[in-house]
Amino acid sequence: MKIAVTSASGQLGTAIVKSLIDTIGQENVIAIARTPEHVKSLGVEVRAGDYTQREQFDTALQGVDTLLLVSGNDDPEKRKQQHANVIDAAKVTGLRKVVYTSIIGPLSESDFSPIVKSNRHTEEYLKGSGLAWSIGRNGVYLEPDLEYLDHYRKDGKITNCAADGRCAYTTRGELAYAYTRMLTEDQHNGQTYNLSGPAITQYELADLMNEVFDTDLQYEPMSVEAYRQQRIGELGEFMGTVIAGIYQGISNGDMDVPSDYRKATGREHISILEAMKRFQRQTSP
Ligand SMILES: NC(=O)c1ccc[n+]([C@@H]2O[C@H](COP(=O)([O-])OP(=O)(O)OC[C@H]3O[C@@H](n4cnc5c(N)ncnc54)[C@H](OP(=O)(O)O)[C@@H]3O)[C@@H](O)[C@H]2O)c1
Repeated sequence: MKIAVTSASGQLGTAIVKSLIDTIGQENVIAIARTPEHVKSLGVEVRAGDYTQREQFDTALQGVDTLLLVSGNDDPEKRKQQHANVIDAAKVTGLRKVVYTSIIGPLSESDFSPIVKSNRHTEEYLKGSGLAWSIGRNGVYLEPDLEYLDHYRKDGKITNCAADGRCAYTTRGELAYAYTRMLTEDQHNGQTYNLSGPAITQYELADLMNEVFDTDLQYEPMSVEAYRQQRIGELGEFMGTVIAGIYQGISNGDMDVPSDYRKATGREHISILEAMKRFQRQTSP
């Protein structure tokens, strides 16, 4: 049974490929990548697959039984066709099942809504494809916050527009564990899961960081508009708006979702404290 993973050069795709190798053996895993040379070190068969190039997937999916489709990171309107290109190719290559990495919330209007709507569009497209399917709605990655720790340390605080909102975080390692189960077990077919840990506030996030990283951070809320302008200044218009939109969604309560992690994996998601400790172990010299 061959299982292929798209965007295998990305951090999530790589984590899933490695988890699959441990579970079904490297001879059964295929890494599909827009830039194949980025995944040579994974030790599995590599095939070319750019979401904008439908015909590449007609070839890349030959002989594949189950596919993990990692959501793209292009403009949300363009993503719809890009994801459809992969699903359409899957339909004609005899592939049995597609597992799609979607995103939790938000349901309200924010600058993040176009991305969520684009993910929901692909969810529906996949459900209507006639293929077996399983969908994971990923919580917010915790790692970028931890990678930003030096900035927080310098400022002595975490500032954003999440206010009192709760956010269901996860880690790519926990997602890789869940997607490996969803790819290899048929009991998840036809299921949509929120893949996340317990939802916490930014105040709790700061307290947990202080406990693990020996910092003395305070959380300081700021307005949506001020935060948007700050993020755009640092990250540019598109990414700055997206990031501010995520925190706006948190303040609206959209990221405070119940976790289905146990249903997907048979165990609880690790705590955010444990996730931070693992990150510290993995990144300390
Ligand atoms: N839940 C969250 O908090 C969160 C946060 C950020 C993003 N996301 C979503 O999760 C996805 C995976 O996250 P990640 O951490 O793995 O991101 P990442 O490390 O930035 O990797 C992005 C991947 O997308 C690939 N890619 C870009 N354009 C492509 C195209 N046209 N066709 C095929 N592949 C393409 C890149 O390939 P190359 O090697 O060719 O560049 C790379 O492998 C993102 O794409 C985004 O949709 C979720």
